[in-house]
Amino acid sequence: MYTEEELKHGITTQVFGRKLFIYNSIDSTNACAKTFANKGAEEGTVVITDYQTAGRGRFGRIWLAEPGSSLLFSIIIQPTFSTDKIGLLPFFATTGIALAVETVTGMQCECKWPNDILINKKKCCGILLESTSHQNKLDYAIIGIGLNVNQRNFIGELEGKATSLSNECGIKLDRRNVFCKIMSSLESYYTEVSKGNFDTVLMEWKSRATIFGKRITLTQAADVIDGVAIDLAPDGGLIVETETCQRVFHAGDVTVVKQ
Ligand code: BTN
Repeated sequence: MYTEEELKHGITTQVFGRKLFIYNSIDSTNACAKTFANKGAEEGTVVITDYQTAGRGRFGRIWLAEPGSSLLFSIIIQPTFSTDKIGLLPFFATTGIALAVETVTGMQCECKWPNDILINKKKCCGILLESTSHQNKLDYAIIGIGLNVNQRNFIGELEGKATSLSNECGIKLDRRNVFCKIMSSLESYYTEVSKGNFDTVLMEWKSRATIFGKRITLTQAADVIDGVAIDLAPDGGLIVETETCQRVFHAGDVTVVKQ
């Protein structure tokens, strides 16, 4: 398990990770961070754990990770921009993590819409963004990050679809070092988007995306939409050319159709 001294020692940020809550085991770091945020925790506060008993994924799914093998943490942010920019937050988070992962592993990351990170076509990181707002203003957002660092085995429905950094780069990594790199990278992208500069982030995200121009299926609950992924909309939605028209989607699971 991490100690506060070890983590703080490697952190070079001004805000992100300056306040840390560390747990051996917890239900969900997102749930815990939300409680702290509601009690007025400051921006950049991080909740990190070695193991989650009720880790949350997108669409109400469960996020599973073996104890001591992954990075499981949530950051509280208090963006000042309006709620119409919420859809852009995943892009800063994904791009920041992808850059940090590339730096520590030397491997190329792929960004999968809206907020997954893949290496060699397998998912190594998922992000769950939860926010609270009122009167068109964000109170806070929680960025929950599950990054498979050293986990060896992925069984059941994860087999062949999920991976870890160590499985792909062949060496066991120091989770503390990966965490500190992520803090720095996220903070620098967050500084950019806080000034309204989403363009750089979106450009960098797109440079790691592989779906544009490809035939995809987008699944939203019981709906399956077929089309070609065209581009990102200015609000972070995915523009898809279907048989009949262009549509913009704001949620869903995308699969590239093998041709
Ligand atoms: C996804 O479905 O891809 C998103 C998964 C996000 C999992 C992380 S693990 C840390 C944080 N706490 C949670 O309960 N979920 C997120």
